[in-house]
Amino acid sequence: MIDLFRAEKFFKEYVSNFKVADKKIDVKIKHTYGVVSISKYIAEGLKLSEEDILLAQLIGLLHDIGRFEQAVKFNDFDDYNTMDHAEYGVKILFEEGLIEKFIKDRQFDKIIENAIRNHNKFDIEYGLEDRELLHAKIIRDADKTDNFRIKQIQDFLSLFKSTEEEVSKELITDEVWKEFLGEKTIISSHRITNMDKWLSYIAWVYDYNFDVSLKYLKENDCVDKVIDRLDYKEKDTKEKMEYVREVIKKYIDDRLIR
Ligand SMILES: [Fe+2]
Repeated sequence: MIDLFRAEKFFKEYVSNFKVADKKIDVKIKHTYGVVSISKYIAEGLKLSEEDILLAQLIGLLHDIGRFEQAVKFNDFDDYNTMDHAEYGVKILFEEGLIEKFIKDRQFDKIIENAIRNHNKFDIEYGLEDRELLHAKIIRDADKTDNFRIKQIQDFLSLFKSTEEEVSKELITDEVWKEFLGEKTIISSHRITNMDKWLSYIAWVYDYNFDVSLKYLKENDCVDKVIDRLDYKEKDTKEKMEYVREVIKKYIDDRLIR
């Protein structure tokens, strides 16, 4: 049985051990609740069983559990330079046994573990069982979707260590632009400018698993809101971003009318 109320109660207790006043921690707590709610929206949209809807929310609650220790140890969320927060989350939940505090029933462990492990990877690994794959896909969509909300509000200094003014003057590099034109997500290590990163957040749309998740983006006007957040000072960037708006919104519409 999945007691989401109990799990959420322990989550609150767990995160209270970290400095909640710290902006970095606070953003991750709010992100977690955002992901729980979007996971529910997706699971309900997919008309899953009551148990799978609860399981999707539980995975949402746990998916970034490794972020809190990461913030304390490194004061940085860049996995590439610090540690893989998904692998770390799996370690504290399943090797150190923290999962016990969230849920007594052990039958969902493999599904939860594989969903968390795969949530931040470029692709989902091969060989997952059907229900593991389903939940890995839900958490990946939910995580990206809440990130669309975060990118609308997070301040640029904490996002890029540059001001909004500085970022707005930047260009998209050719390599990254080519990748975008291939209707693909952008490989993190290829990004050079902050504007490359900004574009890469929007290109996440190409990695969405479920149409219902894209429906959420459309209903909440997420693509326009992220693109309109910056006043692009370079003509080249401005034109590219207008093109991005057009093709991404068309991609979403095309998937939704299928
Ligand atoms: Fe994460």
